[in-house]
Amino acid sequence: MQIGIDKLGLFTPNTYLDLVMLANARGVDPDKFTIGIGQDQMAIAPLSQDSVTMGANAALDLLEGESRDNISLLILGTESGIDQSKAGAIYIQRLLGLSNARTFEIKEACYGATAGLMTAYDYVAAHPDQKALVIGSDIARYGLETPGEVTQGAGAVAMLVSAQPRLMVLEPETSIHSADIQDFWRPNYSKEAFARGKYSTEQYIEFFQKTWADYRAKTGRTIADFKALAFHLPYTKMGLKALRTILDEGSETQQAQLLERYAESTLYSRQIGNIYTGALYLGFLSLLEHSTNLEAGDRIGLFSYGSGAVSEFFTGILQPGFEKQLAKQKHADLLANRRQLTMVEYETQFQTELPEDGSEYEIDLTMDNAPIILKGVKDHERIYMTR
Ligand code: COA
Repeated sequence: MQIGIDKLGLFTPNTYLDLVMLANARGVDPDKFTIGIGQDQMAIAPLSQDSVTMGANAALDLLEGESRDNISLLILGTESGIDQSKAGAIYIQRLLGLSNARTFEIKEACYGATAGLMTAYDYVAAHPDQKALVIGSDIARYGLETPGEVTQGAGAVAMLVSAQPRLMVLEPETSIHSADIQDFWRPNYSKEAFARGKYSTEQYIEFFQKTWADYRAKTGRTIADFKALAFHLPYTKMGLKALRTILDEGSETQQAQLLERYAESTLYSRQIGNIYTGALYLGFLSLLEHSTNLEAGDRIGLFSYGSGAVSEFFTGILQPGFEKQLAKQKHADLLANRRQLTMVEYETQFQTELPEDGSEYEIDLTMDNAPIILKGVKDHERIYMTR
């Protein structure tokens, strides 16, 4: 039986910061951000968008015309959880009307959605008539005036996993490498991540090389077996650094093609920024929606990395008609209809927080046009609403 991704959904908030503006405000050469790090814009989440609403918004599209009755697994991968006990996935379950689903949240930094995808794969293998909804949804926060500031972002990707998928069949061989390292973490008391930026970059590359070598040894496949490689993209230069370390295994033509596909995989991330758990799948979606060189039968490699750290290299085969499962125009509109924030608006938004003392707070919703929103808080409870 073949199992894989049937549909992909995307959501990102409707406000963003221009990174040339950020560079100028921070006294940095803009080329460092746009070329050195490879980011042009970053999505900024208003208070009315959190990991729950963004995840639910991303899933809305792919549920259109889909029977909810046989979606019986719902997993939210996030490192922007809103509660220590209750899974954000439960709110999403209600907002989407998926009451038959085994529902939970999963955490391992940016690997969370991949953990969800692999769990969904096994679930569908055991229950072929059932489908699973896997969501990666995050707000990446490093803090004002930190080295990581330019690599923030916000958004979510949702995946419908099924037997006989129409988009991409996942192949069974995967390679995993994990180790207890301290490259990026966020203690319970902190709203911002702590990152050893250079160290995390080195570890990412090392983990990629390990999983790639293991995959090659296990399967006998080489770089020539891949039409494209999609990477976890905390910033778009990151995957490129890893890709470059294996490029010389291919011919000059293969190298050029993989670099072209890589550039296509970065176009959404360049505008949205880091979305942690969803970042790999944002890259994959960008590749599919921007490349005119992919066809059914092509093998795509995907490298997932979650700090802390767990990494996995896995692969899929594009299915006949996969293009029909995409929504390029819709996603172009989503990005085109965003409003650019000024530096003052960005910094104010960054510092504005929901009350934590149980007092009632109503969020100003006038600027947020998303279908699913966080309306406010009352008695320590978040109040979500579908418009
Ligand atoms: N024009 C063009 N490129 C420039 C430049 C300029 N004027 N100035 C600097 N650069 C390049 C540097 O050469 C470097 O490129 P390289 O990485 O290919 O060598 C790049 O821009 C970044 O410069 P660097 O000095 O290393 O930046 P930094 O100290 O500000 O840190 C990160 C960059 C990514 C480490 C930092 O943003 C961070 O900590 N991010 C969060 C952690 C993260 O995302 N980790 C990823 C693994 S999950």
